[in-house]
Amino acid sequence: MPKPDLDPLLASAAGRFGTPAYVYVTDAIDTRLADLRATLGQWFALSYAMKCNPNPALLSWLEPRVDLIDVSSGGEFALACAAGWAPDRASFTGPAKRDAEVQATIAAGLGELVLESLREAQAANRIAAALGRVQPVLIRLAPDRVPKGFGDHMAGRPSPFGIDIEDAPEILPQILALPHLRVIGLHIYSGTQCLKPAAIAENWRIFLQIFRDTCAAQGLTPQKLVFGSGLGIPYHPGDTPLSLPDIAADIGPDLSAFRSEPRFAQTKLVLELGRFLVGEAGYFVTRVISTKASRGSRLAICDGGMNAHLAASGNFGMVLRRNYVMHKVGGGIGEEKVDLSGPLCTSIDKIGGGVLLPPLAEGDLIALHTSGAYGPTASPLHFISHPTPREILAEGGQLRDVTRIAPALPTPG
Ligand SMILES: Cc1ncc(COP(=O)(O)O)c(C=O)c1O
Repeated sequence: MPKPDLDPLLASAAGRFGTPAYVYVTDAIDTRLADLRATLGQWFALSYAMKCNPNPALLSWLEPRVDLIDVSSGGEFALACAAGWAPDRASFTGPAKRDAEVQATIAAGLGELVLESLREAQAANRIAAALGRVQPVLIRLAPDRVPKGFGDHMAGRPSPFGIDIEDAPEILPQILALPHLRVIGLHIYSGTQCLKPAAIAENWRIFLQIFRDTCAAQGLTPQKLVFGSGLGIPYHPGDTPLSLPDIAADIGPDLSAFRSEPRFAQTKLVLELGRFLVGEAGYFVTRVISTKASRGSRLAICDGGMNAHLAASGNFGMVLRRNYVMHKVGGGIGEEKVDLSGPLCTSIDKIGGGVLLPPLAEGDLIALHTSGAYGPTASPLHFISHPTPREILAEGGQLRDVTRIAPALPTPG
């Protein structure tokens, strides 16, 4: 059930700024940060993977609160810098970096380039040489297995991401020999959207072993080791939120033992995470344009659907579409089963099937939860040229329009 002060906030955001709208509640991110620091902070610094939500105002809000930032393109790097992040706090991941991006980020003083292949290392070495630099780099490794329980796998199978761990003995010495790159550590991001503490702990145990073995084999004393967190969030009714204390209790002794090994005594361990930081702080608010009874079903057709929130339509990497947790803003008496669609002329524009909600009428607002990550920038916003969603930052109850993406046409009225 939503908190009592949430609905007035969402209704006010929709009323003042229009719908569809994403509302990002910063108090919820503050709480999440405090929980992360309290449970895992003794071992890890935090790096925000901005791909999940690159809203400039949010980036500025996060800048004094989170240690590091991970960018995955030259565009993200530019956004982070414009939002106030010092370039040397950024790492740059991504499997298809262009020379121009590598050149621009190195020239601007990027913290670490995360190398995903030998080809990329050789190109970066050439570029750094031309700039008269020695660029700090991390080498991204792809483990040969990911435990069960992750919603998406970036390793453990053929994958564009990182260097397969089987190939590391052959490739790493070649990277280490490149004179304009300084290998300061390793990076692994092998799976995400996991809601099982034991699977998270098992995955990090795999990382620890790989870090140990690789550093020993290559004679590396790393400054930094990045753990791709894999921490998931409860999108759907019945999902159990992750317990950070359970993860800490499971993996804590292993992390402490690792840190006590002489090779890693000075190593900074970094947890790279996106959705877990901001996902649950975001609500997607869409307004019912029309209702319809059709062949025994109740339908509500809304002003924002798949075009504004691809993930909620189940088309962003979900095998079977499942409803997001959602509620009718302001509540109501009774419940009925309703199918929710968006404004697009396609049957895949569906953001709810058989959802139990108070009876809906034209003008009602529906709030989809867990919408703070992979929202507007991960959606086909321009398909059919409907108004693009507003983005609203709610800081301690104050609302601010922080919309980044301009609509195809100015919203009439
Ligand atoms: C390299 C890397 N870092 C970070 C993330 C962020 O993942 P999440 O938002 O699930 O935490 C991803 C997800 O695809 C990734 O590939």
